[in-house]
Amino acid sequence: MSLLALLRKQNRKTLFTTPSHGQKFFIFNKLRNFYKYDISETDAHDPQTALSEAEKRASMIYGTKYTHFLTNGSTSGVIASVLTCTNKGDKVLIWRNSHPSHLNAVKLAGCEPVFYDLPVIKEWGVPDKTTPDLLNLDGIKAVIVTSPTYEGIVSDIKALKQACKNTYLIVDEAHGALYPFSDKLPQSAVNIADFTIQSLHKTAGGLNPTALLHVNCDLDASKALSMINTTSPSYPLLASIEANINYLNSKKGRKKIAELISNLEELRTVNFNFGGDDITKILIKKDGLSGYKLSEKLFNDFNIEDEKTNEISTMLLCGLGTDDKKIKKLAGALQNLTRN
Ligand SMILES: Cc1ncc(COP(=O)(O)O)c(C=O)c1O
Repeated sequence: MSLLALLRKQNRKTLFTTPSHGQKFFIFNKLRNFYKYDISETDAHDPQTALSEAEKRASMIYGTKYTHFLTNGSTSGVIASVLTCTNKGDKVLIWRNSHPSHLNAVKLAGCEPVFYDLPVIKEWGVPDKTTPDLLNLDGIKAVIVTSPTYEGIVSDIKALKQACKNTYLIVDEAHGALYPFSDKLPQSAVNIADFTIQSLHKTAGGLNPTALLHVNCDLDASKALSMINTTSPSYPLLASIEANINYLNSKKGRKKIAELISNLEELRTVNFNFGGDDITKILIKKDGLSGYKLSEKLFNDFNIEDEKTNEISTMLLCGLGTDDKKIKKLAGALQNLTRN
């Protein structure tokens, strides 16, 4: 099957997965004209100046020293952060089960990886938060923390920052891009950690693979970014990032996030087992069913696809495009499962 044919095939499942925009163009309608906006970085429109001004406006919105637009995912933000704050031979502390970009970043920087482990929350079968006592920071140049975890477990970034006296703190907030825009969501690391990386495409309605790198220390990440990125960036994608941030920060965007949270609060009134620290990651389990069985039942009996499952629980990911209809469908499925 050709790629185009595959993309045109109607997906009949209700997706609680990334990207969470729900295949709807509600942020940047004009992107339907992708080709029209596909210009070169050196062309007479001077898009490079426009980009640096857009990034400055974004850093004001987030309250950061610098915010970089990424068109190669959080992966590139993690790699650029490590390249920026380390020298060859430095030790970098990373979580043993972290996203592959963490170890790859350490390798690319010629640094030595040192691993830490996270305890597992037994009742849910998911990794617990990162706390300062789990990190031996002696001789460590940089540490990478994943918060939230895939399943929505959130670490106390302020406490971690306090512990990092001579160590750069890099927070992989790939799954927390909505956090800066609602008080009802966990606190974002964007203006606490030295480097924070967020995927807009995972939860914030952005297109694959748009993301952000927020910098709060005195180091300049642009050199590292230029080493790992193409010299022909996609201006339609960059423009979508700007529109995405403006939308999240707008009255309309904040209202949409508030609606999502309120719909999810309503879902939590269903008599089911819910876990996690972030309401937008629906972490559920059912007595007498393994996480895998629960996932299979949702898929086969209710046409609902989750994002991640383990032996005990299953997680359904929500974001800006997760509408009322989808959440009601899930509520109905959970009610049905409770009765049977
Ligand atoms: C925790 C975490 N960090 C980083 C990444 C990389 O993000 P991206 O796909 O935006 O490169 C992922 C992707 O799944 C992830 O789950």
